[in-house]
Amino acid sequence: MSPVWYAGAYAIGAASGLLGDKWSLGFIAETERQVCAHLDEHLDGLPAEDARSRAIVETMRDEEAQHGESAVAAGAADLPGPVKTLMRLTAKVMTRTAYWV
Ligand SMILES: [Fe+2]
Repeated sequence: MSPVWYAGAYAIGAASGLLGDKWSLGFIAETERQVCAHLDEHLDGLPAEDARSRAIVETMRDEEAQHGESAVAAGAADLPGPVKTLMRLTAKVMTRTAYWV
């Protein structure tokens, strides 16, 4: 699925870039927020005794959160609710498709 994800990500990135920095940064901030929520779901599903896996996912989540905070600090706009919902639905399609394939 990589070529499909790449094409989609490129198109979304190009579109948000055309809208200007504050919206592009807003897209990054929201993406990272949703990625953190997704990683938190993975953490909830990991066994408490699997310290190694938990440490890896926690580090990933902390790094993504930092990316989002950097975008906000650089002037990210808060995206409209329907855009956030569309992003969440798109991500759901992507993850479900990846699991299915
Ligand atoms: Fe990131």
